[in-house]
Amino acid sequence: MTVTVRQLLEVLGDGNFHSGEALGKALSVSRTAIWKQLSKLSDLHIDLESVRGRGYRIPGGLELLSPEEITAGLKPDAGALLTALQVLDTIDSTNAYARRQLELDGAHGSAYLAECQTGGRGRMGRTWVSPYGRNVYLSLVWEYEGGATVLEGLSLAVGVAVRRAVTALGVADITLKWPNDVLRDGRKLGGILLEMTGDPVGTCRVIVGIGLNINVPSGIAKTIDQPWHDLADHGLSRNTIAAAILSELLPLLSDYTRTGFTPYREEWQGYDAHRGETVQIRTPRQSVTGVARGVAENGALCLEVDGQLQYFSGGEVSLRPAD
Ligand code: BTN
Repeated sequence: MTVTVRQLLEVLGDGNFHSGEALGKALSVSRTAIWKQLSKLSDLHIDLESVRGRGYRIPGGLELLSPEEITAGLKPDAGALLTALQVLDTIDSTNAYARRQLELDGAHGSAYLAECQTGGRGRMGRTWVSPYGRNVYLSLVWEYEGGATVLEGLSLAVGVAVRRAVTALGVADITLKWPNDVLRDGRKLGGILLEMTGDPVGTCRVIVGIGLNINVPSGIAKTIDQPWHDLADHGLSRNTIAAAILSELLPLLSDYTRTGFTPYREEWQGYDAHRGETVQIRTPRQSVTGVARGVAENGALCLEVDGQLQYFSGGEVSLRPAD
């Protein structure tokens, strides 16, 4: 008999002490098999405390994702729109997995979450640091008629949805940075990566990938290459957060061909982290400095340069405060 790290965490996740013997009994394996798996936890940046005579525990516990809890936490209108929800353990990337499922005729309205990503992807070829069991990595697939133009502004609208979900759970100071960063106290809390497949002028599918830092382990924090934040001080359940995001996101995606970005634009601008500030826009060809003046109806960033307004669309474009 073998035991997986996940099975072990299902027991140790309660944060209480368990002896090696009790763990072996609970999981019907030898103590040697338990030790083998326990030794893997440090590679996953999971703290394990070992006290002679008491056993092992994960200080503070560790909550695993549960499809049942997430679906139970969905608002009814969102629940009705969800076709399938899959919780993966360790995967390269939930966006990549969603794409593979599409090739296997995976369904529109399917959500994929993972405990850990070994190849989490960010915008512009960046890596999304994705440690085990601590954050939210979510991809949702939606199908649209009418091609890519009906999806203009969608990544910004998704930012608004994530902001709404996190704010409703009691977290203050969430702002948005063009094109699709979610910030807390000005530092990166989450990112959004939209990927399209299908016919750019007909039936297309969008994979909406969201990564949100909930409780970044200190051992991995130094590998994040920008100022970041998480929600550790709020002690929120990852399942509750995932359900809250899906509750905002599913109705948004379902209505987007009808609504477009318009109903989200004002809210996005209200929480624009850089509005009125001098910023620098970098594209593969140029770098432009100007004053951020909000976003257009199609989600393009509006920049005032020498008294003239210039518009920039997502893709390989990044924004940063000007030096
Ligand atoms: C960014 O800010 O650069 C976007 C980050 C997006 C990360 C999420 S995590 C879930 C999904 N799977 C991925 O590989 N990336 C997205």
